[in-house]
Amino acid sequence: MIKKIPVDALVPGMYVHDLNCGWLEHPFLTNAFRVEDAARVAKIRALGIREVYIDTCRGLDVPDAPTREEVEARLRQRIEALAARKPAPPRRAALADEAPRARKLHTAANRIVRNLLADVRLGAQIELDKVEPMLESMVDSVFSNPNALLPLAGLKRHDTYTFEHSVSVCALMVAFARELELPRELIREIALGALLHDVGKAKVPEAILNKPAKLSEAEFAVMKTHVQLGSELLRATPGVSETALRVAGQHHERYDGSGYPERLEGEAISLYGQMAAIVDVYDAISSNRIYHKGMAPSEALKKLLEWSEHHFAPKLVHSFIRAIGIYPSGSLVRLESGRLAVVREQNAHDLLHPQVQVIFHIGRQCYLPPEIIDLAQGQDRIVGHEDFRTWNIDPQAWLPA
Ligand SMILES: [Fe+2]
Repeated sequence: MIKKIPVDALVPGMYVHDLNCGWLEHPFLTNAFRVEDAARVAKIRALGIREVYIDTCRGLDVPDAPTREEVEARLRQRIEALAARKPAPPRRAALADEAPRARKLHTAANRIVRNLLADVRLGAQIELDKVEPMLESMVDSVFSNPNALLPLAGLKRHDTYTFEHSVSVCALMVAFARELELPRELIREIALGALLHDVGKAKVPEAILNKPAKLSEAEFAVMKTHVQLGSELLRATPGVSETALRVAGQHHERYDGSGYPERLEGEAISLYGQMAAIVDVYDAISSNRIYHKGMAPSEALKKLLEWSEHHFAPKLVHSFIRAIGIYPSGSLVRLESGRLAVVREQNAHDLLHPQVQVIFHIGRQCYLPPEIIDLAQGQDRIVGHEDFRTWNIDPQAWLPA
């Protein structure tokens, strides 16, 4: 049986099924292993891990620990409680109008960030005037209709992760800040920090940055320096605000003090740093990397909620979920009628019942004539999330045109 225990209850003889730290590029070769000795326990604790899942069929058991199923059920209830929300900020553009603009913008943003990171690697200064007009357009796009740009942010290719991740984190941060009703000028500063949050990676040796396997402990230590390196680069750039510096400099801090580089705790981490940590982890665990398969977006949100008991401020995680939806736009869901559908737009009052495009019939194993239905009308309902790869469906083909 798989059970969840606090790390303080972990003893040699137990079998770790899952270290429950998806965001961490930790030095263990695998997430699952037998705990041989106390040194191993100490190492896990030193990483900042607070709770792990153990397999009681493969190692020692512990009384009174919840099973994985019990944990899952509780999280599902907590997520569903977030469904009813105050109406979302009004949309200024129809999805059909914003979608072509968002596509162009997304392509341009990726190109600009790729070039910027390449220039910085060669020793150039960050040139803000190359990114600012694009940032303004990204803020505009998310304010016009976030359902156009956000699904694009979910699509990434393995070989281009670093800059695609930067663009995604930027788009997601704008949506998050909009949900928090922060002033527009501040949102632009947050967006700049988000776009450049990993700029320090341009100073990390490429052999480590793009290593197609787990990092060694020494390599992991080098990788972590990207935060300070990024802060130095940004401080040397005229026009970068304190807010943008906080987004970038604090995106690996954790609410319980287990993060880096400064091990800041609780409200010592700025609001912008706390937001960046949530968004960075969300995008990392929902993306496919060479060495791990990304989670479905709604699964990743559930993990954030689980980790918010220690690593993130729960209220902020709630706001982030409200910002992007329980079933984020662009994700694949299974309907009660036995059909697969792609989420198109969130409904203003009800995040459990978005508008979806029905595309595939599971029983008949065939595509259906695409049809948009509003689940708030009660014709059908979502029974779970699905993985595009399981069904061999290309998510790109079902983005809003
Ligand atoms: Fe980072």
